[in-house]
Amino acid sequence: MLVTIDNLLAAEELAHARDLLARSRWDSGLATAGPQAAEAKNNEQLAESAEHLPALRRLVLDALARSATFFTAALPLKILPPHFNRYAGARNTYGYHTDCAMRRVEQQPGAYVRADVSATLFLSDPEDYDGGVLTIEDSFGAHGVKLAAGSLVVYPSSSIHAVTPVTRGERVACFMFIQSMVRDAGQRRLLYDMDMALLQLRELHGETDPVVRLTGAYHNLLRRWAETG
Ligand code: NI
Repeated sequence: MLVTIDNLLAAEELAHARDLLARSRWDSGLATAGPQAAEAKNNEQLAESAEHLPALRRLVLDALARSATFFTAALPLKILPPHFNRYAGARNTYGYHTDCAMRRVEQQPGAYVRADVSATLFLSDPEDYDGGVLTIEDSFGAHGVKLAAGSLVVYPSSSIHAVTPVTRGERVACFMFIQSMVRDAGQRRLLYDMDMALLQLRELHGETDPVVRLTGAYHNLLRRWAETG
């Protein structure tokens, strides 16, 4: 399941993030790649020591925290601190790879987050670069994603995916891994579909008795499937 969230960042947040990023130094993207992904990865990334990284991370995490759509799509339990990357010039692509299931929490020695859900927040205007399409494969084929600046795509970490070469301009983005309260992608999808349909039903008909009962069924499924630790 691929969910896109338009304008996750407000215009002033996007401008602020871009300003901080323009004043940051980019390093090789290999720091967070496992050995197999490293063979495919050719981009740049903000180092852990980058001065503005804490402010950038806060900005993105605050935006995620107020998005009801992100919550229902990802059902987040833990979110790894987001990373920022750039594709441009000779470092312009990330071939097909899968994200490692278990990600070390750099700030807490010995702690891991299981990557169930991946998310990419686009920070460059799509008109400003060619290529740079996030291509995600699922059982229905390959989907190309290139969103407006400030918009987010959420997809299962279990998918095979790539970023096609950027042949003009630069593509700056933020990516993150989320451990979901519901580890199974099929169960997450069912809950998401049900919650979105309930939202529509509520708008169309108000809190009718069947809507209340279906909402109960949604929460009972969540109770059955969700883990909080
Ligand atoms: Ni990836």
